Amino acid sequence: MTASKKKKIGLFKLGLRIALYSSLVSGASSFLVLIIFYNLSLLSTALAACAIAFLVLLISYFFNYKLQYKRLEKLEEISRNISKKRFEEYQGITTNYGDEVDYLVKHFVKSSRTIEREIQRLNRIENYRKEFIGDISHELKTPIFAIQGFVETLLNGALEDEEVNREFLKKTMRNVNRLIYLTKDLMEISKLETGELKSDIEPFYLYEVIHDVVDSLQHKAERDDVKLKLKEFDKNLQVRGDKNQIKQVLINLIENGVKYNIKGGKVEIELEQFKKDKNRVLLSIRDTGIGIDESDLARVTERFFRVDKSRSRERGGTGLGLAIVKHIIEAHREQLYYESKINEGTIFKFTLRKVQ
Ligand SMILES: Nc1ncnc2c1ncn2[C@@H]1O[C@H](COP(=O)(O)OP(=O)(O)O)[C@@H](O)[C@H]1O
Ligand SMILES: [Mg+2]
Repeated sequence: MTASKKKKIGLFKLGLRIALYSSLVSGASSFLVLIIFYNLSLLSTALAACAIAFLVLLISYFFNYKLQYKRLEKLEEISRNISKKRFEEYQGITTNYGDEVDYLVKHFVKSSRTIEREIQRLNRIENYRKEFIGDISHELKTPIFAIQGFVETLLNGALEDEEVNREFLKKTMRNVNRLIYLTKDLMEISKLETGELKSDIEPFYLYEVIHDVVDSLQHKAERDDVKLKLKEFDKNLQVRGDKNQIKQVLINLIENGVKYNIKGGKVEIELEQFKKDKNRVLLSIRDTGIGIDESDLARVTERFFRVDKSRSRERGGTGLGLAIVKHIIEAHREQLYYESKINEGTIFKFTLRKVQ
């Protein structure tokens, strides 16, 4: 403890006050006892009482100092550190007296830890928010500037030409749709990343959900000349999860399988027993598409990461699909696995808990 810190408490005033009161009480009571029972002269009684009072003052101050000063000083140090947002590890600072001061010190240390954790949590959210806003504005720029370009060209004379007119409006519409997907995915990812969106875990029939998803994506797959194939499936299998979120995971993975595929390619959805845990099944989505390079594979679940930005954009991608998948699977406390080989294809797998 530095000199300046010591100066703040200096003389142990509280201890001195208690000692003074005790010495006054003991001086006065010994004066009364001596005068009533010992019949001494007034002067000697007063001197004896003063001596006793002084002795009590010293002893009382000594005990107060020993019992309280160090711990009060520690309390002061902790609170000073808190106000300076400094959080130190306080180890072994309580005594085993088990009294109120111990209790207070313990609670101060606990509160200091809670405040520290809370500040760290808020800082994390703040950093996340800053980064997120940066990413969003960057992502919004592309479609907004594209729309601005098309509309400007139309206004600058292209409106007269029927053919150009239609073409530019189509392009504008495509970018408006991109903005709509982006807004939807952004809302979802921000809620997932800040933990605002909770998973509503309930049993549901897996086949029903997969069947719905495959049905809804069939048209897109046919348009791209990609075959969607659902392998042998136990239709009565029930799993535990948030039905809508698992549906979202399937949409994102199957859509990627179609989007990053080749003409005449395939996307196969297969269910099998998870070997590491007999209570779980493993659902895999395997495609015969363009694949992902090993160096990019580790980053594909990052927000806004795209191997080929132009291909993703041109196909309505936001770069958020796999980040959403990862968060949903994590929130379910399930596992996500993926492997890929360039020009051969990609496989994404995730586990789900069976209802026994
Ligand atoms: N099945 C796949 N085959 C090849 N590349 C893929 C596949 N799935 C994802 N990717 C790559 O990972 C990137 C991130 O995917 P995702 O988060 O779904 O964003 P996007 O909106 O671009 O589809 C994609 O841009 C793509 O480059
Ligand atoms: Mg995607």
